[in-house]
Amino acid sequence: MNVPLMDIGSQYGPLRAEIDAAIAGVLDSGRFILGPHVTALEEEIGAEVDGRHCVGVANGTDALVIALNALDIGPGDEVITTPYTFYATAEAIARMGATPVFCDIRADDYCIDPALVEAKITPRTKAIMPVHIFGHPADVRALRPIADAHGLPIIEDAAQAYGASDAGTPVCAMGDIATLSFFPTKNLPGIGDGGMVVCKDPEVAARVRRLRFHGSKDKVVFEEVGYNSRLDDLQAAVIRIFLKHVHDWNDGRRAAAAAYAAAGLGEYMTLPGVRADAHPIYHLYMARHENREAVQAALKERGVASAVYYGIPMHLQPVFAHLGYREGDLPVAEECARTALALPMHPHLTAEEAAYVVDAVAQAREAVG
Ligand SMILES: Cc1ncc(COP(=O)(O)O)c(C=O)c1O
Repeated sequence: MNVPLMDIGSQYGPLRAEIDAAIAGVLDSGRFILGPHVTALEEEIGAEVDGRHCVGVANGTDALVIALNALDIGPGDEVITTPYTFYATAEAIARMGATPVFCDIRADDYCIDPALVEAKITPRTKAIMPVHIFGHPADVRALRPIADAHGLPIIEDAAQAYGASDAGTPVCAMGDIATLSFFPTKNLPGIGDGGMVVCKDPEVAARVRRLRFHGSKDKVVFEEVGYNSRLDDLQAAVIRIFLKHVHDWNDGRRAAAAAYAAAGLGEYMTLPGVRADAHPIYHLYMARHENREAVQAALKERGVASAVYYGIPMHLQPVFAHLGYREGDLPVAEECARTALALPMHPHLTAEEAAYVVDAVAQAREAVG
């Protein structure tokens, strides 16, 4: 048996005729950028996340940069974030001229540890940026009193977690501003690059709208230096189709995670945890093993794909060497970066495939001890 890491074709396949018709519709309309599908997608996602104000942009990285810009975060400012994330999170902070301040994570949910955040706050801190990493919602409920006590906005990087929730609150409706990515392997994908900024405050949303379009409301008067970061109607038309299925797909991911546990994966690897009241969507299924590389090699021999995500945490990346972090500074993130392995995960992973993967892990364990 061959078990791929992801299978985006299993999502597109059954929807192909609808996607083709949507693409043809956009071609016929001649409205290619920020057209009616973008507006509709902004409204549809807004309705799912407590009526927040959504602004479609060119990708998830731009969404982060523009969100920071809309909060006036720049040189001299610090933003507290997680070291265990895709580079774009920290890059966006640095791109604005601000300094990412890395705070260690919890091993159970892989997200920033709220108990360690307060000690990182300085007079220069301007925001806290948790990431709902691998589809598990960060503990924004615990971050909220800390943020409020210091007057700091919370910026949610929700690129990997559309549809996840915590105590009934969906991601993107927890913080003050949030960002999404529609990169094709994301759980709510597009068929190219795309992103969104989700704002609590309509005035911030108006600024984001202006920023995505060269700092102008009307292409006549230019009020500030902005970006050319707009969402294509073609993308929005297809994302709207996927949006109708994303919650079922998320259920499929949860079922796959349950199948791994039921097949006994926990006997061989440390399973990803779930915080009480959290409802993750398993964008990636990250299990840990002391001898990760050997497990990975043994899985490969049996046709099971796996991958290392974030093998070097952000605080130890060369680009941030000037910040002076040393190995051992953020031990939980370093431990996860060293031991976590993404196992196959997608909405249509079957119980048989999950059992086959667990069997392969069990055999790998015999090989690696
Ligand atoms: C956590 C996280 N933040 C931000 C991004 C950036 O998104 P994009 O690739 O759409 O720029 C990604 C994905 O690539 C991501 O995984």
